[in-house]
Amino acid sequence: MRNIESLGPLRARTVIVRCDLNVPLADGVITDDGRIRASLATIRELSGAGARIVLISHLGRPQGAPEERYSLRPVAARMAELLGSRVEFVDETVGAAASAAVGGLAGGDVLLLENLRFNPGETSKDESERRAFAQQLAEFGDAFVSDGFGVVHRRQASVYELAQLLPSAAGRLVAAELEVLRRLTEHPERPYTVALGGSKVSDKLGVIAHLLERVDTLLIGGGMLFTFLAAQGHGVASSLLEEDQLDTVRGYLDEAERRGVRILLPSDVVVAEAFAPDAAHEVVAVDAIESSRFGSSAIGLDIGPDSAAAFAEEISRSATVFWNGPMGVFEMEAFANGTRVVARALTETGGFTVVGGGDSAAAVRALGFADEQFGHISTGGGASLEFLEGKQLPGLEVLA
Ligand code: 3PG
Repeated sequence: MRNIESLGPLRARTVIVRCDLNVPLADGVITDDGRIRASLATIRELSGAGARIVLISHLGRPQGAPEERYSLRPVAARMAELLGSRVEFVDETVGAAASAAVGGLAGGDVLLLENLRFNPGETSKDESERRAFAQQLAEFGDAFVSDGFGVVHRRQASVYELAQLLPSAAGRLVAAELEVLRRLTEHPERPYTVALGGSKVSDKLGVIAHLLERVDTLLIGGGMLFTFLAAQGHGVASSLLEEDQLDTVRGYLDEAERRGVRILLPSDVVVAEAFAPDAAHEVVAVDAIESSRFGSSAIGLDIGPDSAAAFAEEISRSATVFWNGPMGVFEMEAFANGTRVVARALTETGGFTVVGGGDSAAAVRALGFADEQFGHISTGGGASLEFLEGKQLPGLEVLA
C-alpha cells in the first residue's frame, strides 16, 4: 500500500484528500463527530508539510443532485473548530466557484468542497461517467490521498477512478484501520469473540460465513437474532424476521457445530407492545416470546439482562473482540441495556477490542463511553465488514 511519503515533498502542491465525513445529523446539528476527528491526523500532517489541501467527501445518499439536508457546510464548521484553524467551504463540487476557491489556496490552507454525491458521476454505474467526474476532480490537484476508510468498499469516482488519475497514496486513517483489521484477520489472539448485532441478517451473511472459519465464539444480538431464534424453531411474534434467510441461518448453525465454533444466542429478550420509546415492555425467555402479555403483537427490541450478562462474561474471557451492530434499539433508553452492557464489557476486558461500524461507534458514544476506552473504533461499517469477509476492496486495491 503506497503511503504519503511515496508522494514526495508536498510543499506548495495541491493535494486532494478523500475523507469519509459522512456524519449523522439531526436538524443540521452533527450528533457524532467521530469521523471528522478521525480525519484530522492526515489533514494536520499535510497542512504542516505546506500542502494546499482540497478535502472531498460524501454525506448521506443524495441521488446525484443537491439537497440542502446533505450539505457538508456544518462539517466544515465543526472541522475548523477541531483543527483550530480556518476551513474554507465552497457550495459546489466542481465548477467555476470550486475552481476559484482551489486557485486561491496558499500552502497549509484547507478547503472542503460540497458533497460529492450531489453530482451523478460520483456513484454512476457507468464507468465512463465516473471517470469523467473523476477527471474534473483530478484537475484540481497534483496528488491524491485516500483517507475515507468508510468508503473504500465503494467503486465510486472519488474512491477508485480518481486514484488512477493522480499520484495517489493511502492516508494515515486508512493505514491505521488496515493495521487493526489485519490483526483481526491474520493473527488474532485467542479466544477470539465476535459480537454481531444490527437489524438485518442479510447484511451480515457474508461476514458470518467467513467468521465461522476464524472465530471461537459468535455472539448474536440485535434485530437479526430473531431470525436465528426462528431458525431454531422459536416463535418470535411480531419481531423482525427475515424468512428468506431461515435456511441459510440453519446452515450456519449446523456448520458452527461441525467446526466447534460456539454461536451464543440470547436466552432472554425484552419484548415491547410497540416500537416506541415509552411502549410497555417485559423480559421473557426466548421460548416464551409468543406467550408474553403482548401476545402476537410482541416485538423484541433488546437482548434480556441474563443474555447481556452471559455475553459480557464471554467478552471478559476473550483475548480479541470485534463488535459490530447494536444489541437492541439503543436510541430508546428502555431498550439500551444490552448494548450498554456489551459496550461496558469491551471497556473492561484486558483483551484487544475493536468496535466496527457507524452504528456501533455512534452507540458507544451516545451511551457515554469514550473512544479511548476501546482498542480501536473503526470509522467504517460496511468497509470493515467487507474486509473481514475477505473481499477485495476497490479503494484499497487501487492503492496497492
Ligand atoms: C458509511 O456510512 O458506511 C460510509 O460513509 C459509506 O456510506 P454508503 O454506505 O452510503 O456508501
